[in-house]
Amino acid sequence: MAPTRTIAVPECPTEHDRLLARILSGPPLPRHVAIIMDGNGRWAERQGLQRTAGHRAGVAAVKRVVTAAAEAKVEALTLFTFSVDNWGRPKREISAIMRLLYETTRNELKEMAAKNVRLIATGDIDGLSPTRRRALKEAIHRTRNNTGLVLNLALNYSGRAEILDAVRRVAKEVLDRKLKVADIDESVFAAHLQTNGLPDPDLLIRTSGERRLSNFLLWQTSYTELYVTDTLWPDFGEDDFFRAILDYQSRERRFGRVGTHRPTNGSARE
Ligand code: FPP
Repeated sequence: MAPTRTIAVPECPTEHDRLLARILSGPPLPRHVAIIMDGNGRWAERQGLQRTAGHRAGVAAVKRVVTAAAEAKVEALTLFTFSVDNWGRPKREISAIMRLLYETTRNELKEMAAKNVRLIATGDIDGLSPTRRRALKEAIHRTRNNTGLVLNLALNYSGRAEILDAVRRVAKEVLDRKLKVADIDESVFAAHLQTNGLPDPDLLIRTSGERRLSNFLLWQTSYTELYVTDTLWPDFGEDDFFRAILDYQSRERRFGRVGTHRPTNGSARE
């Protein structure tokens, strides 16, 4: 039986408090939430600003969502921060995103410690410049003993590249006679992915109304619940995150089986 949770609701609860209390007293929470943060450029263009201003506002949204995820007791949050395809953007924009990443990993260390956040990264980190890579590794090292939310930044990331890399590593172990072909199953394969150790995402949020996976966590999202919102990433706040979780909690996950609403021989399977 799940342990009883005691939720302290303030005397004059705000919408934020109400949403959080509903989440924490409701059905199981998603253990791992992944987000495709989309719409920074459009947000900036709509305000007559440079696209880079959209990315700066996007960092503020990242901070809000990290706070919300920690409050909602989500175990892991993976943010699609920079894809391998993003290298095709104008140089100026790439530099701005990398600078923001550098500043954020350096400046937010205190905040991450206060929130007990452990930073990790998924993707080809070696493809980042030495300065950015050093700052990132330093932040990962400094937060390694934190026991709260795991914040996973997908950086220079491609889902297909991650799968190919895992295939190569599995093949090498077979060649080195450390692994038998007959023993390769889903859990063995998943252990060779960079996300080894994290549960598969239960919920994937994509902002700005786009309905694509965009090469993000292709193996891991087989049974992930999808939540698409028209809100642009820089406008996405804590309450939006809570509403996405509430929506997730209202769903029935069947994993290809039949649900509780369809009786099978008079008894429900789940
Ligand atoms: C997508 O919006 C956003 C990105 C490709 C970059 C995301 C980066 C940040 C939020 C800043 C750095 C983050 C951290 C974690 C420090 P888009 O530019 O594709 O928007 P558009 O589709 O409207 O053009």
